[in-house]
Amino acid sequence: MRKKVIAGNWKMNMLPNEAIKFIEDFAPRVQNTSNEIILCVPYTNLFYSLLTSQNTNIKIGAQNMHWEEKGAYTGEISGQMLKSIGVEYVIIGHSERRAYFAENDETVNKKIKSALQNGLKPIVCVGESLEQREAGNQEEIVKNQVKLALEGITNNSLEQVIIAYEPIWAIGTGKTATSNDANEMIKTIRKEVASLYNEETAQKLIILYGGSVKSENSKELFSTSDIDGALVGGASLKPDEFAKICLSV
Ligand code: 13P
Repeated sequence: MRKKVIAGNWKMNMLPNEAIKFIEDFAPRVQNTSNEIILCVPYTNLFYSLLTSQNTNIKIGAQNMHWEEKGAYTGEISGQMLKSIGVEYVIIGHSERRAYFAENDETVNKKIKSALQNGLKPIVCVGESLEQREAGNQEEIVKNQVKLALEGITNNSLEQVIIAYEPIWAIGTGKTATSNDANEMIKTIRKEVASLYNEETAQKLIILYGGSVKSENSKELFSTSDIDGALVGGASLKPDEFAKICLSV
């Protein structure tokens, strides 16, 4: 039985005082769940969030990292740096980074490898655009993203990886994929992983859905066969709403 994982992606929101207030309000609400609860916060909030979430069941993640350990890469943060302060997770290849910051399947693959080498657990985002879906190419696109992202990653390392299926047209738009469509795509991803690795590895892999998840639709999404949780944007900014999502499994 796979564990349920609910990760919040705060994107470029929240100042440190707001992050601290959020966690103080949110932590008691989710203290009794055995679901894995993750908050992926901006770099400037990492340290405050790590301190405030000590002695809670909340894990802290970053939203991006560079693949090199160190060097002349002005403005970048490495996996080693994240690990050194106690960060556990890192989102890799979010569609906003692919769209606005020139990330591609190759850099995504390098970042995943570097995250794993540094003992971080990558949450790898894949998903098709509206155009690609309308052209009926969504399965090919997503399978290819998965294949390229995981190139050269061993069976053992894959146990540390989470995949998040986030159709771009559902992000921040209020349009959620139907639970059936999301589940079907996640099954397709699992099948692809089975063909790249093996069935046992694919059955163990945690695959999340992301895109306009809120407390009104989370229960239905989580009750499907293959959706193992969610990567939540907007609805993760409110402690009561995000707690409801975390507890809806
Ligand atoms: P929304 O939940 O705001 O649609 O964002 C989804 C997302 O991009 C999470 O990474």
